[in-house]
Amino acid sequence: MRQIMMLLTSSKLLPFGQSSKLIGSHLIATLAAMLLTCCSSDSEVKAETSQTTANIGKTLIVYYSYTGNCREIVSSLTAQVEADVLEIQPAEKGLKYEANNYALGTQLLNAIKANPNDASSYPAIDPVNVSLSDYQNIIIVTPLWWSQMAAIMQTFLFNNGAQMAGKHVGLIVSSHSSGISGVVADAQRLLPSVTWAGDALWINASNHSNRASLIENWLPTQNFQTSNDMTQKLYITIGGVTKTATLVSNSSTEALVAQLQQGDITYEAHDYGNFEKVGDMGHSFPQNNEQITTEPGDLILYQGSNLCIYYDTNSWNFTRIGRLDYMTQADIKQWVNAGGGNVTVTLSLNNTTAVHRVTTKAATSDKFISLNGTHTKMPSKGVYIDNCKKIIK
Ligand SMILES: Cc1cc2nc3c(=O)[nH]c(=O)nc-3n(C[C@H](O)[C@H](O)[C@H](O)COP(=O)(O)O)c2cc1C
Repeated sequence: MRQIMMLLTSSKLLPFGQSSKLIGSHLIATLAAMLLTCCSSDSEVKAETSQTTANIGKTLIVYYSYTGNCREIVSSLTAQVEADVLEIQPAEKGLKYEANNYALGTQLLNAIKANPNDASSYPAIDPVNVSLSDYQNIIIVTPLWWSQMAAIMQTFLFNNGAQMAGKHVGLIVSSHSSGISGVVADAQRLLPSVTWAGDALWINASNHSNRASLIENWLPTQNFQTSNDMTQKLYITIGGVTKTATLVSNSSTEALVAQLQQGDITYEAHDYGNFEKVGDMGHSFPQNNEQITTEPGDLILYQGSNLCIYYDTNSWNFTRIGRLDYMTQADIKQWVNAGGGNVTVTLSLNNTTAVHRVTTKAATSDKFISLNGTHTKMPSKGVYIDNCKKIIK
């Protein structure tokens, strides 16, 4: 289970149906910072520094929900992740997006599609009083409309995409049954500069009741930053393939990063115990040993100079260095060539070859959806959705 599950235990759910008021610790921190600002410039620097440190690892859930499914998803999410919650509300109340064969929903999306770079193409939303700089991780929970991101959520991302640059962002999409690749494409267009935490989670009518376990399985696949993570990424190359890893923050990783600033480290590694690829880096680093039961993807420092890349579990007293990003156990085994003998490993602080993308599960294309959102056989007459397209017969 990844660190976010261990460190984050309860949630501060903000009042739904209000214009996005953030309460609690942030307000107190902001007031305290304002007070300090009045006192002296020295205090100002200290207040800013401590707030920046505190923000690392903080999570915000942003959602929009028209018929309540995304709201239920958020409730399940907040039972598992400590996060602040922000609900996006359309400025115009009481609209029926599904009326007249979903004419209004279609109209809003068509306006965005016609001029996606023009702010006036997006439907107005209530003011959002959240300081995105307070958060390192953002989870977006949005409905799918006509195989695109619901227009109301698109407005929020259009307005705030620049402030979200560099954040670790996860995406959960709720649809009746249509696949979510169009919503992922919208998210990528609206948030070109974020770090996607991993694959988007698709929740639909047939698995909505299992949302708690879907979320439980999805969260560990997301590389959300925790307060114990370093922002500096480690790049590891084996067999010409480079992967990224998130480093934890301790004196061992600080020394490793300092060494890597002098140049890359290349060493030979071999399999050990059917659970790790290990090799001597040729440098000795401080140890912060503790009893650890490893998981696939863990990076461990053993006896100060050996780096172990774990592809299975082992319990020992050694030092946690970090973890590989975005990789399944099968991916790791293949990459390290588990059981395949010696490999050359290169560690670096820079990389130009690693590719990070959000991918989605395949769309279902063999179902028809009536306009009240239920599955249907191909109707002989009427309006229905076939493979994300509106058909009128
Ligand atoms: C305007 C509109 C268009 C929709 N288009 C689709 C669609 O193309 N495919 C689909 O599977 N569901 C579609 N839906 C259904 C929603 O994606 C689904 O019910 C979702 O769970 C709604 O989330 P919410 O209850 O949080 O609003 C549409 C709903 C609306 C209101």
